[in-house]
Amino acid sequence: MQNINGIVSVEINNKIALICLDNPPVNAASQALRDGLQKALIWASSQNDIGVIVIYGAGRTFVAGADIKEFGKQPLAPFLPDLVNEIEQAEIPVISVLHGTALGGGLEIALGTHARVGIEGLKVGLPEIHLGLLPGAGGTQRTPRLCGIPAALDMILSGRHIHAQEALEMGLIDKLYDGQPRDVAMEAAQEVLIGKLETHRTDQIITKSNNVHLDEVEARLLQTHSHLFSPHKCIEAVRACSLPIEEGLRIERQAFEECMETPQRAGLIHAFFGERSVSRVPESKIAPRQVEHIGIIGAGTMGSGIATTCLMAGLRVTLIENVQENLNEGTAKVKRNLQDSVKRGKLQAENLSKTQSLLQPALGIEYLDQVDLVIEAAFEDMDIKKEIFRKLDSVCKAGAILASNTSYLDINQIAAITSRPQDVIGLHFFSPAHVMRLLEIVVGKKTDPAVTATGFSLAKKLRKVGVKAGVCDGFIGNRILAHYRKTAAYLVLDGAHPQQVDQALESFGFAMGPYKVTDLAGLDIDWMTRRRKAPTRPKEERYSGEIADRICESGWFGRKSGQGYYLYKGRDIHTNPDIDAIINAERQKAGITVQKFNNKEIVKRYMTAMISEAVRVLEERIAARPLDVDMVFLFGYGFPRHRGGPLHYADTLGPQELISRIETYAKEDSHYWKVPDMLRQMALDGTKFSDLNG
Ligand code: 3HC
Repeated sequence: MQNINGIVSVEINNKIALICLDNPPVNAASQALRDGLQKALIWASSQNDIGVIVIYGAGRTFVAGADIKEFGKQPLAPFLPDLVNEIEQAEIPVISVLHGTALGGGLEIALGTHARVGIEGLKVGLPEIHLGLLPGAGGTQRTPRLCGIPAALDMILSGRHIHAQEALEMGLIDKLYDGQPRDVAMEAAQEVLIGKLETHRTDQIITKSNNVHLDEVEARLLQTHSHLFSPHKCIEAVRACSLPIEEGLRIERQAFEECMETPQRAGLIHAFFGERSVSRVPESKIAPRQVEHIGIIGAGTMGSGIATTCLMAGLRVTLIENVQENLNEGTAKVKRNLQDSVKRGKLQAENLSKTQSLLQPALGIEYLDQVDLVIEAAFEDMDIKKEIFRKLDSVCKAGAILASNTSYLDINQIAAITSRPQDVIGLHFFSPAHVMRLLEIVVGKKTDPAVTATGFSLAKKLRKVGVKAGVCDGFIGNRILAHYRKTAAYLVLDGAHPQQVDQALESFGFAMGPYKVTDLAGLDIDWMTRRRKAPTRPKEERYSGEIADRICESGWFGRKSGQGYYLYKGRDIHTNPDIDAIINAERQKAGITVQKFNNKEIVKRYMTAMISEAVRVLEERIAARPLDVDMVFLFGYGFPRHRGGPLHYADTLGPQELISRIETYAKEDSHYWKVPDMLRQMALDGTKFSDLNG
């Protein structure tokens, strides 16, 4: 055994050289791995009488891609594209054994080898597009040579994981085996030596150009993804695959480097690592409590969605209502949700009836005496919640966790009604709860750290992104939303049209503009909130709800009532012509001189308001790190992923720009627009939000 550099080793076995890559956790192709692999190839080729070289991975996977941590830094030799070319041009046949996931640069290493064999359970893919990139080590040139342009393009533009059998049928891999990577490596190598497994060079395959298909795909992309950079570059690179490979690789390299320079790439990589580090909180070192049986109070949209997500994770659920009819409706809703999940490919059809059998509907809280965790999803009213928690306190077993799904109420007040405030926590799901990935884990003053740890372990079980939040009205997400939504309302009062505000923000990248979102959520919800907050609204605050109030008074509650800011006919959405009269009347009543806002100005004000409230949320420690705010917005509020989240985006503007914007807007409304102290301090000492994520 020749240990090359602690990550890569070579074993010689008769005429076979076995190169083992061992760079946990996912064998990322870091500089050390590339260097080790290059040296291992040179060393193996220099040994006497070697008939075949095999590359395989130790641990749970073959190479899962280039090392993403290196992106954005000075690239270090040996470079992956050169290494793949060296493998391809080797005189001794080189083959690769793929297990786990062979993704991105990992698959590209394999594409440079002269045969690829897979192990059952393997998934391959070129997911670079999700990072704002394109396959930059030959993937756009060798994949079409092996599978044809349409299949390669689909793979590159979707970034999807492809199962072993499909990879075999596509011609991406040559043969499938069962067994451990080293054993398969030996078996496949012996087959090469006796001519049973053929080897070939992918670069010598000629691909016919298919411009019609490429043009069609590009035209579709222009309609759906015109704001994203890398999909267009992927097409440009794939177009080059019918050129001589050196030329194609040069074009691919150039396109890859252009993608690497974009803020979209930086935003998407921030999202990738943020999703993984957001659960790294001090409490994650503490053992969580055991949770197998969950009680859910309230079988409305929220409760039935939460029940669905728990059932899909294999947890037993007791669903509580106090009226039989509501319970029946809720149970039916859960069943529909589960059937939808089968259709969406999130639940296997053969598991449907077993999953349904984990649901136990019941009338009355007294049925929750044996559950490990309760999630209360009843009406948003403090008195109702207190009553429920009082009952839970007397019914639930010792050590059971009592959680509320409230979206803004004070968890400390709810906890104080019980004799066990240490067991009380907020678990704030987002609607539809079986689809949306965000879970705010709201930690009260007295919440036991083990209860917080359980919140995070539950989030993981439910495949949610758990984010720790402190207690305030609206926690992280809804608190910030309540603030920046006022900007949208002020813009409309002062001269913009709701549809223009939506268009401006959709072209910034939001999945939906704020007026489409409120129409979907139901205008009555915000109306109720405005009335709740009316008594505590500061006198100096400019009221932002007049137009919305008039709309609600007309009985228009958005999508569910057929009209709101828009008109709804079936699934179609149209302009609501009656809105203009309401807006104009309110402007006149308030004596407003109508201003013109272009889309850029709308985005500027909206984003500045969002960022300034996000900074206050950090100042008050409602969110511990900027990345917590970012993940809340990416996974719960349709924030454009390629912009990384509000505070990652704020770093691209810098504190000074934000301060000068706020100071300008404050000339119109000095109560609403205030510069947070933290932002001033950051401007003074040159701190970025990314510096505060450690
Ligand atoms: N580089 C660096 N670190 C990586 C990584 C990569 N390519 N892939 C995963 N990791 C890290 C994760 O950050 C995580 O670290 P942590 O434990 O410190 O949080 C750890 O490896 C484990 O990852 P996951 O938690 O995601 O583990 P899973 O088992 O859930 O998923 C996976 C494994 C499917 C491999 C998933 O990690 C994944 O999709 N990784 C990214 C794959 C990818 O995008 N590859 C393409 C890279 S770009 C490229 O190759 C460019 C080339 O064309 C030139």
